[in-house]
Amino acid sequence: MGWQEGKYKYEQIVHKVIHLIEYGTFRPGNSIPSVRQMSIQEKVSITTVLQAYYILEAQGYIKAHPKSGFYVNSILPGDYPEPDVSSPGSDPTRVSIRELIMMVLSEHLNTRLVHLGVAYPNTKLLPTEKLNRNLVRIGHRIGGESVQYSIPLGEESLRVQIARRLLEAGCAVVPDEIVITSGCSEAITLCLRAVCSPGNTVAVDSPISFDALRCLEALGLRVLEIPTHPRTGMRLDALRRAIEHQKIDACLTISNFNNPLGSCIPDEKKKEMADLLGKYEIPLIENDIFGEIYFTETRPRVVKAYDRKGLTMLCSSFSKDLCPGYRVGWVVPGRFKEEIEWLKYTSSVATTKLPQLAIAEFLASGSYDPLLRRIRKIYAQNLSALSVVVKRYFPDETRVTRPSGGFLLWVQLPDFVDSLKLYRSALQKNIAITPGYLFSATQNYKNFIRLNAANWSEEAEEAVKCLGEIISTLK
Ligand SMILES: Cc1ncc(COP(=O)(O)O)c(C=O)c1O
Repeated sequence: MGWQEGKYKYEQIVHKVIHLIEYGTFRPGNSIPSVRQMSIQEKVSITTVLQAYYILEAQGYIKAHPKSGFYVNSILPGDYPEPDVSSPGSDPTRVSIRELIMMVLSEHLNTRLVHLGVAYPNTKLLPTEKLNRNLVRIGHRIGGESVQYSIPLGEESLRVQIARRLLEAGCAVVPDEIVITSGCSEAITLCLRAVCSPGNTVAVDSPISFDALRCLEALGLRVLEIPTHPRTGMRLDALRRAIEHQKIDACLTISNFNNPLGSCIPDEKKKEMADLLGKYEIPLIENDIFGEIYFTETRPRVVKAYDRKGLTMLCSSFSKDLCPGYRVGWVVPGRFKEEIEWLKYTSSVATTKLPQLAIAEFLASGSYDPLLRRIRKIYAQNLSALSVVVKRYFPDETRVTRPSGGFLLWVQLPDFVDSLKLYRSALQKNIAITPGYLFSATQNYKNFIRLNAANWSEEAEEAVKCLGEIISTLK
């Protein structure tokens, strides 16, 4: 459709802006000309432009940002359909994906590859120099203290900063209710060890990150995958049915921006989840590792904000938005705090001191919020750009998620695609993706792949195009 179409001036402006968005002049997240600029450019009145912009807003193309102007939406009308709510089997299974994980992991540091799959943040956006300078400066300042053990709970200055940030997620906790861990992985493992024994059953989102599955596998736990909506997360009716029919020893969910779905449990549903699990006294391990990377106006809350029984263990880390290699995470373990503190002490005594102090100082300096604002904006734009390119080069039947946070895209390919075959063919072209098999204990996602938008670039765009070509040869 040409943009000149339309009887009235405002219609012509509507068509023109849509045309410019669809052909990439204005990309998701970009600002479009102000009302005044457009009125001068098109020689029409301000009212006519406003009428056009209101229509574009109503149609889902643009959004007004108060005092700042109009911006192209991150998700555009006519985008791909989303994957359906997942429908995993109803029996608990042992997890056995270790070999697959190790196979994919072996390529993670291969610098010859264009990495489209691995869930690493974009290190170019991270304040690495500042953090490293903090490390050195603090090391000098405290001398011998810097190589001394930290305590199992972790450094108080960091716990104070985390407690302050948690207020925005709806949680009022004091620093002594927080245990610092070596990343979110250790937090999850400690929680599982605190409430489960080998052979127990844990209800999880489906799909779910292999970071969670590997912890479950290592502890000999069984997994019951619960149907999960691509936007609103774990289905509570399905969870309730599962609880009523079999023994569930714990539940594990990535409540905000599930990896790989990008789903976010709406706040009112979070309350329902806390009430449901509370009724049956089932501990919840809540992974909020992507919680700070939201594209909405405000930070989503956590399920823990609604937990009145202390059953929720809230886990997170700085791995997605600050410094994955520093290995600093935390857990707010509720009623399981003593057990978690003991398990932390028996597994590694304490988390390394200097990285904790360097992060605490960074947070206290006030630099974290501006950094997060920048990251959120760039990742939202990158995800939209990735979706557009997937739409352009992948087969018509392809479906993609619409994440409202994080930086991952979950892509459902036509049934004929086996994601492992695609993974191997892509490697031959120096492209790495993450096959769907890694996100389920029951091999539910044969024709799915996870893509990462954090490092979006022209090279990545070329790689997506190449993937599209490979997919067409798999028929
Ligand atoms: C959902 C999820 N949980 C946990 C982890 C592991 O986090 P960490 O590096 O802090 O141990 C990751 C990392 O990719 C993840 O995506």
